[in-house]
Amino acid sequence: MDPVRNPYAPGAGQRPPELAGRDRELAQFEVTLERVAAGRPERSMVLSGLRGVGKTVLLNALRGLAVHRAWGTGKLEARPDRSLRLPLAQAVHAAVREVAHRHRDPDRVDAVTGVVKSFALRTRLDDRLGVRWQPPVDVPAVKGRADSGDLETDLVELFSDVAELARDLGVGVALFVDEMQDVSTVELAALCGACHELSQQGAPVIVVGAGLPHLPVALAASKSYAERLFRYVVVDRLPRRMSDRALLVPASTENVYYTDEALDELYALTDGYPYFVQAYGKVTWDAAVASPIQVSDVREAAPEAEAELAVGFFGARYDRATPAERDYMRTMADLAVERADGLVATADIAASLGRKPQSLSPARDGLIKKGLVYSSERGSVAFTVPHFGKFLREQSG
Ligand SMILES: Nc1ncnc2c1ncn2[C@@H]1O[C@H](COP(=O)(O)OP(=O)(O)OP(=O)(O)O)[C@@H](O)[C@H]1O
Ligand SMILES: [Mg+2]
Repeated sequence: MDPVRNPYAPGAGQRPPELAGRDRELAQFEVTLERVAAGRPERSMVLSGLRGVGKTVLLNALRGLAVHRAWGTGKLEARPDRSLRLPLAQAVHAAVREVAHRHRDPDRVDAVTGVVKSFALRTRLDDRLGVRWQPPVDVPAVKGRADSGDLETDLVELFSDVAELARDLGVGVALFVDEMQDVSTVELAALCGACHELSQQGAPVIVVGAGLPHLPVALAASKSYAERLFRYVVVDRLPRRMSDRALLVPASTENVYYTDEALDELYALTDGYPYFVQAYGKVTWDAAVASPIQVSDVREAAPEAEAELAVGFFGARYDRATPAERDYMRTMADLAVERADGLVATADIAASLGRKPQSLSPARDGLIKKGLVYSSERGSVAFTVPHFGKFLREQSG
């Protein structure tokens, strides 16, 4: 069918034509926004899940809800070995700008912008490398506010000032942190500490996070009370009905339908993983000649979807691994076959490779840092990428 009218959107962070199966999270967040704006005690949300399940897209949708309520919002993507300070300053500055033009007192806005600036100027020189954003030049830095150098203290001051600005307008400030598992333990602790303090003050600020499955464990390790600060939401594969919805709703706007057998086959291939749903949906559409889309169209298109995923989804990640890390993953893949939960004991990997467990730590740590593997339980690891074990086994077999 006409590829120009193809509605599907495979790709990292690509907004899907139909955000299926996330109504509960969206409704919950509306309540959160309302409670936070009213200064009521409320836990923020932290999304966690495997690669390609739709965390970024959901995070963006939550931000959309905040924007819709005229909140100040900002977003950042954490990176390993990078301090949060500058990206946070940038996100907070974005939030200030969103509310600034409605605020009645321009001097107050400038003063808060000056605090953002003094916060940003405390960034160490090597943390500025590679960041294009510059602190605002049109206002003077407010000396002695949010610039002590202690991240938690500075965040409390920064967040309080920004929250006050938003509260003047009857709204709040929401900051969204993607890839949150890449924030260091020390900085996670500072962020939790600041959120804790602000929520005690009833200040309308929330930090919403998204990251890999071990993010809740990383948060708990940083501060013992993290569990009481956040509502953990696991973002997962779509159940059958929602996966069908993700395919059917966009197609129906183009007057295109699917046979039940075609939908059965698509679910068998995608397992309901959102990235796969979009990828298979897209090639199937192009392969089909007419509506309704048939199971034969799905089968004809499947090899192309697989080839595209092998390059773009699996291959791009595999290529980032060193030879030692690849050996580690191939062994993991073989051992994972017998495990429904995909968890593999690190001791078994060592035994299988005939190595001492400690000697494999660099490979394991490297893979965790690259976001290919996660460990939410001591002594075991799993792939962050769905179907990655299968991909590796097919490659070597
Ligand atoms: N609820 C949904 N319904 C339909 N499609 C979705 C849904 N959520 C995400 N998608 C699609 O899945 C793909 C992956 O989404 P996204 O990039 O948000 O995943 P992610 O969890 O952030 O992955 P990563 O861990 O790699 O960053 C995109 O193509 C997106 O359009
Ligand atoms: Mg993402």
